[in-house]
Amino acid sequence: MDTLAALLRLLLFCSAVGALLGYSFQFPQDLDATPRTSVGFHDLLGYRRFSGSALNYSTLLLEEDAGVIYVGARGALFSLDSSDVAVGNALSIEWDAPAQLKQECLIKGKDNQTECFNHIRFLQRFNATHLYICGTHAFSPLCAYVDVALFKISSEFEDGREKCPYDPATGYTGLLVDGEMYTASQFEFRSLPDIRRNFPSPMLKTEGAPTRWLLEADFVGSALVRQSAHSSIRDDDKIYFFFTEKSQEQTLYFPQNRVARVARVCKGDVGGQRTLQKKWTSFLKARLVCSFPDYRFHFNVLRSIFILEGPAPQSSILYGVFGLEWKNVKASAICQYSFADVQRAFDGPYMESQDSTLIWREYTSTVPEPRPGSCITDKLRATGINSSRDLPDDVLEFIRRHPLMFQPIHPQEGRPLLFKRNMDYTKMAVRRVTALDGRTYHVLFMGTDEGWLHRAVEVKGHIHIIEELQLFEKPQPVDSIVISEAMRSVYVGAPTGVVQVPLSTCHRYASCFDCIFARDPSCAWDGKMCVEMDSLSDRYNLTQDILNGNSGCENRTAEDSVPTRTRSVTEGDDVLLLCEIYSNLATPRWTLNGCEPPDYSVESGYRMGTDGLLIVGARVEQGGEYRCFAVENGIQVPVVNYMVRVLSGPPPIDPTTAAPSSPHRLSSTPPGTPMTSALPPPPVPLPSGPRIQISKTLEVMYLSLIVILAGLCIVLTSGLLYMVFCMPGRRGKYSLQGSESERNMELRTISSNCNGGQDSDANGGLLQIVPGEGQASPNKEPLPPAPPLPPPLPTSEYTNGVSATLPSVLRKMNGNSYVLLRQNDPETTSPLYHSFTEELNKILEKRKHTQLVSKPDESSV
Ligand SMILES: *[C@@H]1O[C@H](CO)[C@@H](O)[C@H](O)[C@H]1NC(C)=O
Ligand SMILES: *[C@@H]1O[C@H](CO)[C@@H](O)[C@H](O)[C@H]1NC(C)=O
Ligand SMILES: *[C@@H]1O[C@H](CO)[C@@H](O)[C@H](O)[C@H]1NC(C)=O
Ligand SMILES: *[C@@H]1O[C@H](CO)[C@@H](O)[C@H](O)[C@H]1NC(C)=O
Ligand SMILES: *[C@@H]1O[C@H](CO)[C@@H](O)[C@H](O)[C@H]1NC(C)=O
Repeated sequence: MDTLAALLRLLLFCSAVGALLGYSFQFPQDLDATPRTSVGFHDLLGYRRFSGSALNYSTLLLEEDAGVIYVGARGALFSLDSSDVAVGNALSIEWDAPAQLKQECLIKGKDNQTECFNHIRFLQRFNATHLYICGTHAFSPLCAYVDVALFKISSEFEDGREKCPYDPATGYTGLLVDGEMYTASQFEFRSLPDIRRNFPSPMLKTEGAPTRWLLEADFVGSALVRQSAHSSIRDDDKIYFFFTEKSQEQTLYFPQNRVARVARVCKGDVGGQRTLQKKWTSFLKARLVCSFPDYRFHFNVLRSIFILEGPAPQSSILYGVFGLEWKNVKASAICQYSFADVQRAFDGPYMESQDSTLIWREYTSTVPEPRPGSCITDKLRATGINSSRDLPDDVLEFIRRHPLMFQPIHPQEGRPLLFKRNMDYTKMAVRRVTALDGRTYHVLFMGTDEGWLHRAVEVKGHIHIIEELQLFEKPQPVDSIVISEAMRSVYVGAPTGVVQVPLSTCHRYASCFDCIFARDPSCAWDGKMCVEMDSLSDRYNLTQDILNGNSGCENRTAEDSVPTRTRSVTEGDDVLLLCEIYSNLATPRWTLNGCEPPDYSVESGYRMGTDGLLIVGARVEQGGEYRCFAVENGIQVPVVNYMVRVLSGPPPIDPTTAAPSSPHRLSSTPPGTPMTSALPPPPVPLPSGPRIQISKTLEVMYLSLIVILAGLCIVLTSGLLYMVFCMPGRRGKYSLQGSESERNMELRTISSNCNGGQDSDANGGLLQIVPGEGQASPNKEPLPPAPPLPPPLPTSEYTNGVSATLPSVLRKMNGNSYVLLRQNDPETTSPLYHSFTEELNKILEKRKHTQLVSKPDESSV
């Protein structure tokens, strides 16, 4: 029987893992939002940064009225000006553990780099004059009062061992409410997790036996909900706690090992008289579900919560950031719950476990009166029950054994708001914004484990990520996020400092379309620029479209002058027409002489790249006016125009048998990439007739391409070497933009790749990005003689810029790798093209956020 159960569980686990492996294909793609724009560390606008000598700025306490933000760090407490955290008048209190305690901490075998310090973990307002703080104090927790006026720790310290965890990394949450302290943690390594009211005495705790109320709980948050206010039944206030714990309800349908929970206690609870003495009599917990309806596996690890308070407790909204149980799989989901649903679960049926089986199921027998776990209301008072001490023993005995509710709490819409692959959100905060259309939108701020902040808006049950900001150069987890409406700021605490960023940066959006597409409810186009709406009283001439993000700018295109550039090239050369698209959500579209976009098939001689159009082996008839549009939300916005002139030049030479006539072609074809290999220059007659074979089988095409490439590589290398070493004066010709030295590096990189890595000083970063290097056979033969150079062209505009192909892709890879993702569009039919972008995607995804290339000068006009 046991083995059978074990087998079943294994089977379920396997199916869960299978589901996980397959999830990239199964999950609704429309929930995996891509940040519209990615703002690197050096491009941040209007931010302020504070970092003192300490580390781990993880505990923030904002006091809007006083204009102060208190920051609890490792060994120090800071008082910062909330209007500008960077101004020099920050006050600080040094509060580290004494050397002797640190020594003892070391003897206990703790880490002297992280654990044997005083990490401030509790920081709240105590009364009008004092703050209350608790720190881990080198594994010997201590609490203290801080006189705010003097910004000094008062002389009397308090033992913190019951209030603050020993370990700085243990899940912990705490609240000070009306002079009462509530905390939840696994305070000591060996102790059971506990939810406590620490003072006033006597301290109340959770029950450990016969039914353990908390199983290896990891706490992430807590909240007071003032349900006494305006309550017709004189209801009590409630404290909610949020955590992940070991699952009790292991059933066939629910194989998860861990589960997300919300628990609640009544604020007026004073414990039982005989049963549940000094224990909660009102403790109930319920499961928080965050999953897609049709999928077996759940986002079952709660990482953080945010409560967006409504006018009434029932209208408050709970946001949870969830992750997966498997630590090495990066994925996040955001689920939204209504407090009314939370309450409904606590008013519903209980769960029970038969001690013999340990299987939990719905409790269907009679429930004693008054209802176990309820707070003291007028209904109870009418029956003579004035406090929890008056509750009958059978009720307390029931609650002791039935802390778990049967009904789980499902997210609104029955699914996550957002599901994000390859991304671990750590913390979030939400604010309401009333937009121009009169509707109220929720603007979300999510921090990642790598120090990025996502600004997003919830529209019709979906998340649109307005932008992602790299707040910290060195990847580090965001530890806390606090919003100040008064200062129009978001404060983000992390290991190396506190960053203050504006709630919105509308002026970043340069055009009407940019402003509309961003869909930031705080931003609107006023005819000249994108402005912060809240600062304006006159809203008549503003344009905004949060719901659809596409209307209002139709008549304004004329305002934005589109640059026109000229390219003159020799017939047979490759031409790259750059079209930099700033939004990750836009796709490029090209027209030639106002006509429909050229067809990008293998035969056409065109390749559409991530941020440009490549004309391979230009023919005279391919000259004309090329226009690039960025298509976003169904609207196409002109980006750049090119006048391309193709001059008839020397007759093309077969690249497999002769040295190419033009070094421009050399630089244009990073060999080994299927991208170029898919496109034999049309005017070149290929001896083996690969074009016929293309139509026959792919394999043959690959093979012949490999052969051709190998030949090309030799030729290209020689050409490049010749160019680099023998023709220094002409290098500038190959640069479209940027400095000469930059260009040279790119050229050399390409050549070395072609050589199979002979060139040891090649820039590895660029090299690795080129897939299919193996196609070029190791090349030990002597290089063919350097090719003759073509006569210099008369026009100074002679720039085909093809050498920028790959690097310009690379430059955008950080964050903008999304651009590449989008290219798996069905319209790109070539299988080679597909594999190229996919390959790049994989590499770029891996590198995303790990390597930042600062944006070089964009203007090349
Ligand atoms: C404190 O910061 C250090 C350095 O970034 C980090 O390694 C450590 O994990 C942080 N500790 C906590 C408790 O956040
Ligand atoms: C921490 O301990 C290691 C080895 O135990 C030692 O090398 C290092 O100097 C110590 N660091 C501090 C700050 O005490
Ligand atoms: C606040 O609490 C501190 C510490 O108990 C106490 O010394 C101080 O007098 C209190 N202040 C007020 C205004 O009650
Ligand atoms: C509850 O309070 C009422 C009025 O305050 C009092 O009359 C009654 O005796 C109390 N009941 C108990 C059981 O203490
Ligand atoms: C744009 O212009 C057209 C015709 O000139 C007009 O009908 C339309 O209302 C205008 N749209 C906006 C948003 O101003």
